[in-house]
Amino acid sequence: MKEKLRRRVTVEIDMKALVRNYRRIVERTKPMKVLAVLKANAYGLGVAAYARVLADAGCTEFGVAEPYEALELLKVLGRKPGVDVQILSSVLPDEIPSMVRAGVILPIIDLDEAKKVSAAAVKAKKIARVHMKLDTGMGRLGIPARDALAVIREVRSLPGLDVEGVFSHCPMAYEPRDPFTKGQIRRFKDVVSAAAREGIRFKKIHMAASDAINNFPETAKPPFTMVRTGINLHGSFDPNGRRALKVEPVLTLKTRVAQVRSLPAGTTLGYGRTWCLAEPAKIATISAGYADGLPLALSNRGFVFIGGVRCRVVGRISMDYTTVDVTDVPGVKAGDEVVCFGRCGDDSITPDDWAALKGTHAYDIICSLGTRVERVVRN
Ligand SMILES: Cc1ncc(COP(=O)(O)O)c(C=O)c1O
Repeated sequence: MKEKLRRRVTVEIDMKALVRNYRRIVERTKPMKVLAVLKANAYGLGVAAYARVLADAGCTEFGVAEPYEALELLKVLGRKPGVDVQILSSVLPDEIPSMVRAGVILPIIDLDEAKKVSAAAVKAKKIARVHMKLDTGMGRLGIPARDALAVIREVRSLPGLDVEGVFSHCPMAYEPRDPFTKGQIRRFKDVVSAAAREGIRFKKIHMAASDAINNFPETAKPPFTMVRTGINLHGSFDPNGRRALKVEPVLTLKTRVAQVRSLPAGTTLGYGRTWCLAEPAKIATISAGYADGLPLALSNRGFVFIGGVRCRVVGRISMDYTTVDVTDVPGVKAGDEVVCFGRCGDDSITPDDWAALKGTHAYDIICSLGTRVERVVRN
């Protein structure tokens, strides 16, 4: 029988942990609906598995950034009745007809776009479900909050549209009690209540992503009806702010030892010769580098687990390989497993730890896992 060739680097996704995280978010934000944000291929981890598992766990709301992602998600979910796929950011004019035909919920970012969606819906003899996207302070896309009510009135008068939702997004919700976010929430609620006074009611009202869920619990209470979550599903957080949700890491990044060598004092390691052995040392070269998503910032500062021991990265991370001091770990040999991030007994290294070393956030770390890293679904 032929030996199966294993991938060198794998990211294991613990689906039981993912479901526990989803359930904790549901529990914490009750009675809100929870929309799973699975854009960018579920932050690079594989949208198909995430969507199936979350749908089986009862998730009925899914969000993406653009049309291809929406169609892929619909294919995976098999157009189940009661399961909604929604684009959260924008649709371009030429994308509108196919999105309307596919039944994707669309964001309305201005009146001109609404007219195009309406025309496409009338032509396709369909009702397009849309959510008004308000810019309350994100400064990226949408209808400025001060114009919102007038635009909402006009959009509601167009044929072929079900204006079922209104939503917004926050740029600073990782700062608890931040006055800017408080102002955004106030502006958003003002639009919703002014609309209600005119008899305009929305089925889905949403503003919170993971940061707001953790730091602005008022965004998970009426008049809101839904929250959106991406990074917390993976068990990670923004580096700042409270970690009110008890979510657990879902990901384990593994590779294997390529070679172990005993090297004399004075040996320098890797590009730039940034590490020089002060003493004789046993150095393992592991088969993962920045092409796999190990940030350069781990050079001479990061750690990995080998043989159950936390071992220091020594020398600069290169594209495919990284050197690690295993002097105190007995019996390490080529082929041994290396945990780059994940649990090891009571100890753990998380994408958030890497983010802290790199001076970035966990989104960047997770989305940067390379294309040759095999995504392996566990549990
Ligand atoms: C509009 C919108 N909603 C929700 C999210 C999910 O954010 P998070 O992963 O922080 O929960 C994003 C992510 O950028 C977004 O752009």
